Amino acid sequence: MPRIVRPSTYGTPDVLTVIEVPTPRAAAGEVVVEVRAAGVNPIDWKLYSGAFHTVDEDHKDAAGIAASMPSLGLECAGVVTEVGADVTGVQVGDEVIVYPVTAAYADYVTAPATSIFAKPAEIDWARAGSVMLTGTTAVHALHAAGVGAGDTVLVHGGAGGVGLMAVQLAAAAGATVIATAAERNHALLRELGASPVVYGPGLADRVKSAAPQGITAAVDFAGTDEALDVSLELVPDRTRIASIAGSPRRAEAGIKVLGYGPGQDAGTELRAAARGDLIERAASGTLRILVDTTFPLDQAAKAHEVGIAGHAPGKLVLIP
Ligand SMILES: NC(=O)c1ccc[n+]([C@@H]2O[C@H](COP(=O)([O-])OP(=O)(O)OC[C@H]3O[C@@H](n4cnc5c(N)ncnc54)[C@H](OP(=O)(O)O)[C@@H]3O)[C@@H](O)[C@H]2O)c1
Repeated sequence: MPRIVRPSTYGTPDVLTVIEVPTPRAAAGEVVVEVRAAGVNPIDWKLYSGAFHTVDEDHKDAAGIAASMPSLGLECAGVVTEVGADVTGVQVGDEVIVYPVTAAYADYVTAPATSIFAKPAEIDWARAGSVMLTGTTAVHALHAAGVGAGDTVLVHGGAGGVGLMAVQLAAAAGATVIATAAERNHALLRELGASPVVYGPGLADRVKSAAPQGITAAVDFAGTDEALDVSLELVPDRTRIASIAGSPRRAEAGIKVLGYGPGQDAGTELRAAARGDLIERAASGTLRILVDTTFPLDQAAKAHEVGIAGHAPGKLVLIP
């Protein structure tokens, strides 16, 4: 029987459980994809951390898991195994990139046809399954901060999944890029076209030394007070600071807060529109997708432990 990984309740990665389920079927407008790689993202462990919801024990599904527990896996790549009614341009056997999707931590997943993109042969499975969430977030943040040629942009968290995308896209747009990261990631960031600086006390001074011409925009993928404070100190126009983290201070600061909370900008259309271009860039090699580690599907908990530790330079990916 096909497998799916679900949290059995809210908690830490040890609540992740592999259960067997029937192969899903495609409704009208949907396709079924046999998953070859599913990207791991921080939202995956946040969803069952208890930060957003609490468990409703009253409604249990066939596996004895509360029906209100979230499904995991918002992006993947794989092979189409069934095409529902009213779907055109997709065939059984097609190799595809799928985003957005839910429940991709699985052997098979259903997805709306609008989430299906042809996978270029140049992109291997692990990269194809992990390009979209970070890539579209980076596009959104750079757009929100208005980053383009002639800018000097500060990227907080430059060595994370989103940061590595943003660094490359900003450099490709003609911006000068200063990126914060731990020292061991500096060589990689230089290779990708950024000037790296270590985060931590004294950050503003290090950024000023790296960019004596001044910082015109900042994108924050670290979500720390330090990232907010240094951005506010160095960027003259607050509307050119974008953060993926919500916090009361950010909400009051007059910066752009991107996400799904009240008053935040989800950028749904912009992110959706960015998918084709990201795939083209990845296929041509102008956008490098850096995979740190792959894990078998049944080691999703281990992948989450590594992710929660927070310092993997590149993507964590599940391979069913
Ligand atoms: N709102 C949205 O739409 C949205 C979308 C995607 C992601 N996110 C959020 O964005 C954040 C980053 O996501 P991700 O996928 O890039 O995560 P990730 O791949 O786990 O990267 C996190 C990076 O943060 C860096 N870091 C750790 N502590 C830091 C600090 N104090 N200052 C600066 N950098 C620090 C680490 O780099 P070093 O190894 O160099 O320390 C690490 O590589 C997560 O919180 C995620 O939930 C939000």
